[in-house]
Amino acid sequence: MNSVSIGGIKLPGIVALSPMAGVSHIAYRGICREMGAAYAPTELVSARSIRYNGLEKSMQYLRIDPETEGITAIQLFGAEPDDFTAAIEKIMEDPVLSKVDIIDINMGCPVPKVVKTGAGSALMNSPQTAAAIVKACKKALEGLPRHIPVTVKTRTGYDASDKGKPDFAKALADAGCDMLCVHGRTRPQMYTGECDRKAIALMREAVMGYDIPFFANGDVTDGPSAKTLMEECGADGVMIGRAARGNPWIFSEVAAYLAGSGDIITPDEQERKETLLRELEGRCRWCDEEIAVREFRSVMPFYVKGLRGAAKLKVRLCSALTVNEVKEILEL
Ligand SMILES: Cc1cc2nc3c(=O)[nH]c(=O)nc-3n(C[C@H](O)[C@H](O)[C@H](O)COP(=O)(O)O)c2cc1C
Repeated sequence: MNSVSIGGIKLPGIVALSPMAGVSHIAYRGICREMGAAYAPTELVSARSIRYNGLEKSMQYLRIDPETEGITAIQLFGAEPDDFTAAIEKIMEDPVLSKVDIIDINMGCPVPKVVKTGAGSALMNSPQTAAAIVKACKKALEGLPRHIPVTVKTRTGYDASDKGKPDFAKALADAGCDMLCVHGRTRPQMYTGECDRKAIALMREAVMGYDIPFFANGDVTDGPSAKTLMEECGADGVMIGRAARGNPWIFSEVAAYLAGSGDIITPDEQERKETLLRELEGRCRWCDEEIAVREFRSVMPFYVKGLRGAAKLKVRLCSALTVNEVKEILEL
C-alpha cells in the first residue's frame, strides 16, 4: 500500500474519517485516530462567522488537539474569499488552533441553508469563486513557519443530471489545492441513491497530471467496498462517513483489508459500550454534562446497533441526561 502525503504531510494511512456535523467531535476524532484513521477533520465551520463573531462562538466545532488527533484538519465553509482570509488570520492567532496541519474547504454541503448563501455545493456552479477561495486560503497561509496545505472536499455535481465535474476539479488543482476528495453524489441526492464511482473517476482523471493526492468518498462500509471505490476511481485513499458513526473500529478493519491482511477486528459488546462511554466522557470535558449527553443522543444509537436488546437500549439512551444514567443503561 502506497503512503500518501498532503502538501508534504505524510499520512499514517489512507483511510480517513469524512467530516460529519454532530459526529466529528474532538473526543471522537481522537478515538478514530487511535483506531487507525489516517486523520479526521473537524465538521464544517463558517468562515464568515469566524470573521465577524470571532473564534469563541465556533470553538466547540473548531477545537483541535494535536496530541490525541495526530494530523489535524479544520474544515471551513463560505462563499467569499475574504471571509476565508479573515477566518484563517484569526485561527492563526490562536495558540492551539494555529497548530492545525491542514485547512479543508467544504464545497459539497447540500443543505439549502448553506447552498443559498453560495457556499458548500453551490461553489460547484462558480468555479472561479471556488478557485479564488483556494487561492485566498493559500495566500493567508503563506509565510508561516510551517507549510499548511489547503484541501477541498466536494461532490460529483450540482444538478441531478451531472455525471462528474472534471473542469471544476481542474480549476481547483490549478488554484493550488493540495488534495481533493470527491463524494460520489450530486447536491440534490443529498445522501440518497448510490455513490457514482464513474463520476468520481472522471474528476480523478482530470487531476491526474497534478501532483496531488485524490480521495474518494461514498458508501464505504467495509474493506471490500473501500477497495472497489479506490480501484474504480483510481483514488489514493478513502474517506468514510456514515459507516464510521459509533464505529471507529472500521478504520483498522478497512486499512487491514486494503493492506491485504484478513484480520477483522470485531469489537465485543463490552468494548462497544466502553468506547461509547469514553467518547461521552471525552465530550463532557468540553461542555456541561447535560448538554454533552443531549448532543450525544444522536450518536449513541450507532454504538449499540446490533447489540442484544438494541432497540430498547436506544430508546433509553435517547432520554438519558447524565453520564451515570448512560452507565446504568449500559450496565457499565
Ligand atoms: C450527519 C452528517 C453530517 C455531515 N457533515 C458534513 C460536514 O460537516 N462536512 C462535509 O464535508 N461533509 C459532511 N457530511 C458528508 C460526509 O462527510 C460524507 O461525504 C457523506 O456522508 C458520504 O460518505 P459516506 O457514504 O461514507 O457516508 C455529512 C454527512 C452526514 C451523514
